Amino acid sequence: MTTACTFVLFGATGDLARRMLFPSLYFLHAEGFLADEQRIVATSRSDRSDEDFRDSVRGWVEERSGEWFDPEVFEDFARRISYVPVDAGEPADFEKLAEHLSGGCAEDVVFYLSTSPSIFGAVCSGLKDAGLTKAPNRIVVEKPIGHDLESNVRINETVAEAFSEDRTFRIDHYLGKETVQNLIALRFGNRIFEPLWNAQAIESVQISIAEMVGAEGRGGYYDEYGAIRDMMQNHLLQLLCLVAMEPPASLGADSVRNEKVKVLRSLAEITPDNVEQRTVRGQYEGGYDENGGRAASYTEDVGNPDSDTESYVAIQAEVENWRWAGVPFYLETGKRMAERRTQIVIRFRPVPHSIFGAETDPNELIIVLQPEERITLQIMNKKPGLTEEGMPLQELGLNLSLSEHAGGERRRIAYEQLILDALKNNPTLFVQRDEQEAAWRWIDGIVNAWEARNMRPRRYRSGGGGPSAKHSLTERNGHSWNE
Ligand code: BG6
Repeated sequence: MTTACTFVLFGATGDLARRMLFPSLYFLHAEGFLADEQRIVATSRSDRSDEDFRDSVRGWVEERSGEWFDPEVFEDFARRISYVPVDAGEPADFEKLAEHLSGGCAEDVVFYLSTSPSIFGAVCSGLKDAGLTKAPNRIVVEKPIGHDLESNVRINETVAEAFSEDRTFRIDHYLGKETVQNLIALRFGNRIFEPLWNAQAIESVQISIAEMVGAEGRGGYYDEYGAIRDMMQNHLLQLLCLVAMEPPASLGADSVRNEKVKVLRSLAEITPDNVEQRTVRGQYEGGYDENGGRAASYTEDVGNPDSDTESYVAIQAEVENWRWAGVPFYLETGKRMAERRTQIVIRFRPVPHSIFGAETDPNELIIVLQPEERITLQIMNKKPGLTEEGMPLQELGLNLSLSEHAGGERRRIAYEQLILDALKNNPTLFVQRDEQEAAWRWIDGIVNAWEARNMRPRRYRSGGGGPSAKHSLTERNGHSWNE
């Protein structure tokens, strides 16, 4: 495995660079994951000196790392950073960048594009013309990679003209989260789940990502994408893949990613004929924010009074294969919900025959990924105390709090692992092109069906549980959301 010598960041003054990328690089440095000779080259359009730029980085890192900030460590870290102005439309700027990288470091470079995809093409051809795209140099691209399958293919093709697929790293930051990787550990590091991980034992699966934040501050982008493209196409479907995939032969990139793509290709198509039963779109109204203050409505937040974009979506997905035939996967994500919570609920089938004179509650394996990391297994127990007749039962949870076992360790930024993997040339946690295309194909089907049926979002209260129509989605099958 090679370890890149230089990390070149395009979009180095953007929001992601400030909040996530520089703080992640700082922590990688602080914890000794960066080799001495590794350099960080920041680029954006404006003209800045190294010193001036390092000062900005200091402010961003300090703000993000809080009590974990160490000024001396930062000074050491800052020595790795240099700044080169690059305008993506200026070939001469790429020549200057190449010159800056020369002297050994142009040989093994990670180019990280934290920019709008509209300039991916210009950046890739600029790098190519400047002779910077030869192996093992590689590229990392951020979402959104397209708005639908067609634009996704177009962007992927542009990138492919400069970097081969094995040197293209597509980020889904959920895959960098410790808790998400833990799903792989839970499923394949334990013997007890696998015999039950199928349609014979499992009745339904629920995957939810609820957020309290709204679309404020990023209205332009969000209003064009909506919840289905912003969250469902990537994060939710990645979680679905990790829950539903077959055991991979190894942790190697191809093994894991090939299993994921099979899941995506097995998703039953949603069509105009079933879209009204299988999906719910919602848009938040004004209400109360987390502090009890007045919260603006979606249309106010994005500054578009006529917007029909959804800030909430729920889908009943079906994975059509032997393992999962007939098991509904309820997927849900929304903004301005009552609480921030990402969780997966595996609901098992009820016992085939109850000897207790009453129905027993089905077992549930609840995996909470955010805000705290917890795994709970809901099991039936005898209610303590004397009984004159029968045996009354109660449901109790077997609880594993992963945060308690982390021993007060700092909560990592998802990007730390992903940047480290890109530097180490390990693509396992990145999204393959065919995986992304399969996801877009399925999402396009839903969006087209919405259009065909003129299905507009239903309103829901800010700070509530989402549109009430979401309950019909599950109740139709005799199920309910675990909230
Ligand atoms: C991003 C979406 O990809 O993920 C945002 O664009 C969303 O709309 C964010 O808020 C959620 O990520 P996290 O890590 O806060 O759960």
